[in-house]
Amino acid sequence: MKTTTTRAFQWVGMLAVGALLTACGASDEGAAGQAGPGTFEGRGPITYVAGKDTTGSVQPMLDRWNKLHPKEKVTFIQLPTDADAQRQQMIQNAETKSDAYTVLSLDVVWTSEFAAHQWIDRLPEKRFPLEKMLKPVVETAKYRDGLYAVPASSDGGMLYYRTDLLKKAGISEPPTTWAGMKADCAKVKKLPEARGMSCYAGQFQKYEGLTVNFSEAVNSAGGVVTDRNGKPDVDTAAAKKGLDFLVDSVKDGTIPKDGITYLEEDGRQAFQSGKLIFHRNWPYVYSLAGKSDIKGKYAVAPLPGLDGPGSSSLGGHNLALSSFAKNKATALDFMKFFSNEENTATFLKDASLAPPYASLYDDKALVEQYPYLPVLKESILRAVPRPRVVQYGDVTSAVQQEAYAALSGAKTSAQALKDLQEALQKSTGQ
Ligand code: GLC
Repeated sequence: MKTTTTRAFQWVGMLAVGALLTACGASDEGAAGQAGPGTFEGRGPITYVAGKDTTGSVQPMLDRWNKLHPKEKVTFIQLPTDADAQRQQMIQNAETKSDAYTVLSLDVVWTSEFAAHQWIDRLPEKRFPLEKMLKPVVETAKYRDGLYAVPASSDGGMLYYRTDLLKKAGISEPPTTWAGMKADCAKVKKLPEARGMSCYAGQFQKYEGLTVNFSEAVNSAGGVVTDRNGKPDVDTAAAKKGLDFLVDSVKDGTIPKDGITYLEEDGRQAFQSGKLIFHRNWPYVYSLAGKSDIKGKYAVAPLPGLDGPGSSSLGGHNLALSSFAKNKATALDFMKFFSNEENTATFLKDASLAPPYASLYDDKALVEQYPYLPVLKESILRAVPRPRVVQYGDVTSAVQQEAYAALSGAKTSAQALKDLQEALQKSTGQ
């Protein structure tokens, strides 16, 4: 994967947030300037709030904690699967200063926004083994040098493909370019068993997943959404090549008609039920697909790009502590437990969730179970972060709106990129 630093978004939130920032004392054990002055007091029941657990691996983990801590039980509050809907509900909870949510499973792109608004507490770094974790993953949990969350799982986009069909069509290696992928599809579709199948789908519904897929397409064509200083730079020929790949794929049927309604779970279902030859999704699909009709008939490869392997967006979830919660001493212990090496290894074994710990990617037994782990580690290390800005909500909604307008044919890709550039300049003040 050919991400370079010049391509990386380095949009560290230095924007108009002065008024929102705490005069934070930044002591390692403290959360000075925050609601609940950094002492993490109180023991008793708490809640863990996350998107719907499609893997079924969370409740067993909570059960283990609850058995060990009968007076400090954790109740699982499940939000919708759609990342934007999760963000909305978490913000609503924070704006009403409700104590209903204790530990939040925060998407890596929300850290700056939640920290700047003081919706989450600054955390004591020394309590967590951050030095054992992949560096870019730890970075996602920081805001202005302070730690505001603890990495629980990372995420990198991968290309799932049907090994059985490629082999039958005489293709020995998965494609590394978009053109290669289309050529492979043309061959596979000649097979009688591929009748009615579509070539490719990712996440193209108008939500956070579209921001991810759009950014990956732009980056994989050599473009950027923002430059290394965080300045929007998306109205370029390279970015257009990326967006054109998606737009043309919708037009020429590479992506099925209903592909622009897909969230992660829709794509997974389509791939598992034999409707797709190639599919872009996160690692969690690997384990679930192994329990479906395509068991033993798929593998994963790095995402393809314009002239060679593409680059993934950096995804994942971190544990954050709601500033308005009670029983913070319990919460901190629970966050330590949930994110420890042993438990993230269990999430990997049971649900193929990408762990934050570097060593697990080289573990012999785990690599035997998931042969793609070394490739995934590289992909995460080189993945392109989405903008780290306090106004992430505005930025992502501009991306979603313009990318969707192009995909649905309401605008040309040139117009959509021009409008996106303007909208991003406005929302970032750059
Ligand atoms: C996954 C990723 C997350 C991303 C989301 C988009 O959950 O881990 O970072 O924002 O997908 O749908």
